[in-house]
Amino acid sequence: MERIINNTCKIYIDEGYRSFQKCLYEVCNLNSIEELNKKYDAYFVICDYNTYNYQLYNMMTHLHGSYIYEYIINPGEDSKSLEDYERIITYCKKVNLSRKSLIIALGGGVVGDLAGFVAATYMRGIDYVQIPTSLLAQVDSSIGGKTGINLGNSKNIIGAFHQPKMTFINVESLKTLPEKEYLSGMGEVIKYALIKDYDLLNYLIDNYEDILDIKTSTMINMVRRCAQIKADIVNEDEKEGGLRRILNLGHTFAHGIEKLCNISHGEAVTIGINMAFKLSLRKNLIEPEYYNKFLELCEKFQLPLNFNYEDEKEIFNIMKNDKKNSFNKINLVLPVGKGNVEVVDNIEEDLIIDVIKECKNA
Ligand SMILES: NC(=O)c1ccc[n+]([C@@H]2O[C@H](COP(=O)([O-])OP(=O)(O)OC[C@H]3O[C@@H](n4cnc5c(N)ncnc54)[C@H](O)[C@@H]3O)[C@@H](O)[C@H]2O)c1
Ligand SMILES: [Zn+2]
Repeated sequence: MERIINNTCKIYIDEGYRSFQKCLYEVCNLNSIEELNKKYDAYFVICDYNTYNYQLYNMMTHLHGSYIYEYIINPGEDSKSLEDYERIITYCKKVNLSRKSLIIALGGGVVGDLAGFVAATYMRGIDYVQIPTSLLAQVDSSIGGKTGINLGNSKNIIGAFHQPKMTFINVESLKTLPEKEYLSGMGEVIKYALIKDYDLLNYLIDNYEDILDIKTSTMINMVRRCAQIKADIVNEDEKEGGLRRILNLGHTFAHGIEKLCNISHGEAVTIGINMAFKLSLRKNLIEPEYYNKFLELCEKFQLPLNFNYEDEKEIFNIMKNDKKNSFNKINLVLPVGKGNVEVVDNIEEDLIIDVIKECKNA
């Protein structure tokens, strides 16, 4: 088992759910399941129908307590809604969940964000743990304590920072994840290599076959390195004051592409990173060989570099309205060297539009 522990994040990475409760009593500074079951009067597991079908039974065989409740939501972004939130809180009340109960989020980022928000707000906040089961959730959304739900078209507009007691990652769970979701998560993995870890970029190229085969030892290595980067950044900048913004590499471009082109988040992110690279090249911030390495990686993982949509201005307008911009300037994260990026806000609008246009499929 691998551990990543700093002031803000407590992450365990294992193959299987066997050690789940042991890790939990360890982070609680207790010595046994008996002591743990005195600390928590009930466990409340939230999953979606897919993680219910593929993961819950296996996880439950390793969870021991007097009161264990399950709640299943529909898979997909639409469940991050006020209606689902209200239904879950109502159910928590019905089964008498108390301030001493523990919420367990078993699923991808949707389950994690929603369950985390329930935990952040039920009785002014109770403990919860993340058990992320999608690649995106294992390397990104389950780490850092951002929780939230959507309102209409406004994503994550209602939310809270609430750190999980721990994040427990079972890399074996990736084996039941649909391939499309897995490859989408690879977009984020590549992002980490580019913002902080050039060696990881080489690792991804050298081991791409094992990665595509979801080989356990390779997964532990890859997920651990990404989770470590996220944990380090969150530890330095918990509430997104500055450093945490580098995690947005590719994302400012990606929001519009994801919305308009009907592709996965990770696919939109790699197209967005492609645009960021093109800007860096034009500004002479990087060497062409570095960009070529990124292209090679995208080819190996069949990730797209270009989008299908007529009106590039529309993509640009969505970018301009990004909630992470301030004082009407577009904040962009650009590669400036191998495994290194910087946040800039002074790139000419014409140049940005030009680069978006360049990534449009003819
Ligand atoms: N809180 C954060 O810091 C943060 C960061 C990034 C993204 N997010 C949020 O995360 C969400 C996206 O997360 P996601 O990509 O994991 O989406 P998701 O939770 O919808 O999961 C993707 C699909 O995979 C299925 N699935 C998950 N694990 C599975 C498994 N092991 N086996 C079989 N099927 C499985 C799910 O049921 C779903 O159909 C978005 O709502 C986004 O806003 C949050
Ligand atoms: Zn992302």
